[in-house]
Amino acid sequence: MAVLITGGTGQIGSFLCQSLLRSDEEVIIYDVKPNMENIKGFKDRVRLVEGDILDRNQMLETIRKYGVKTVYHLAAVVVIESRENPVKSASVNCLGTANVFEACSLADVERVVFTSSSAVIGRPDSYQKSVVTEDDVPHCPPDPYSATKIMNEVFGQHYYSRFGLKTLCLRISAGWGPGRYVGFTGVFNDMIRKLARGEPASLPQDFAYAKAPLRWVYVEELGDCLAFAGRVDEAKIRRRLYNVGTRRPFTPVEFVATLKQILPEAKLQAEWRDKPTESALNVAGPSGLDFDCTRFYDELGYKETLGLKESLERAIAFERAA
Ligand SMILES: NC(=O)c1ccc[n+]([C@@H]2O[C@H](COP(=O)([O-])OP(=O)(O)OC[C@H]3O[C@@H](n4cnc5c(N)ncnc54)[C@H](O)[C@@H]3O)[C@@H](O)[C@H]2O)c1
Repeated sequence: MAVLITGGTGQIGSFLCQSLLRSDEEVIIYDVKPNMENIKGFKDRVRLVEGDILDRNQMLETIRKYGVKTVYHLAAVVVIESRENPVKSASVNCLGTANVFEACSLADVERVVFTSSSAVIGRPDSYQKSVVTEDDVPHCPPDPYSATKIMNEVFGQHYYSRFGLKTLCLRISAGWGPGRYVGFTGVFNDMIRKLARGEPASLPQDFAYAKAPLRWVYVEELGDCLAFAGRVDEAKIRRRLYNVGTRRPFTPVEFVATLKQILPEAKLQAEWRDKPTESALNVAGPSGLDFDCTRFYDELGYKETLGLKESLERAIAFERAA
């Protein structure tokens, strides 16, 4: 029995892949435009199928051919491209995701783990509280990407209740670490890459709100979170959607202090803000709105393995070796 990852050569998919390989899973990657750089270290240990989630027949044939028991659906048009090309993002993220659920349902796949984003939460002024949980209905998605992710959440729930497909949505705070250097989290990763190489860098203004409660997960740990979600005992699953982020939030100030502990010679310029930037207001965490993730730990039983310091040490080592 194999597992299949749509978008498996992307930033998160490639780390999920490594996590699954550590548990000796037979991994099929299904990706429309494979990023060979992200999988160069283990490409011989996975089966790579070049395919589009918009092609439901190819999805179904692939799932049946390899006897796939679990699908991790990560393929998507993400934030920047989604803004530039709303039609493509509606097509891939909405129709493509519906295709994935339909193919999995027809092929009797045992579980589909898929990803939403804390981007669905929207701005803090939509809420009368400072912490949101899974029970808070998403308000006012700020862009096409977030709107498609809400649609994914609704369809996941529908395929579960109407067709009995065991969908499990992880609404991810954000993944940080190697593999993306443009966009909202990308500029943050780029800062770490520069510092790891001994170059000067500035803290991006979107992360300079000193009190922001960040629950960003290092991509390696995020790979483990997703792999865990594919394996967790069905009896423990009390809802079909879990917020996923670090158990305890950390502030940008804590992040910078940890970084300076590891790299005392780092030439990092940080100018702190006493409120979020306008663009950060759209993202839970940097906006000041906290994104509660305790149920993922308390109900499902996930055990965090990397703390902030260890995550940063790994990110720096990765960038130096790249
Ligand atoms: N990175 C984050 O911080 C973050 C946060 C929240 C949610 N997510 C979600 O996690 C998932 C993975 O994100 P990522 O950051 O790894 O994205 P990514 O852009 O790095 O990877 C996406 C992958 O999907 C593939 N893909 C795109 N269209 C496809 C199609 N039509 N058919 C098959 N494959 C296709 C791409 O080739 C790419 O390899 C996405 O669904 C994203 O919305 C990511």
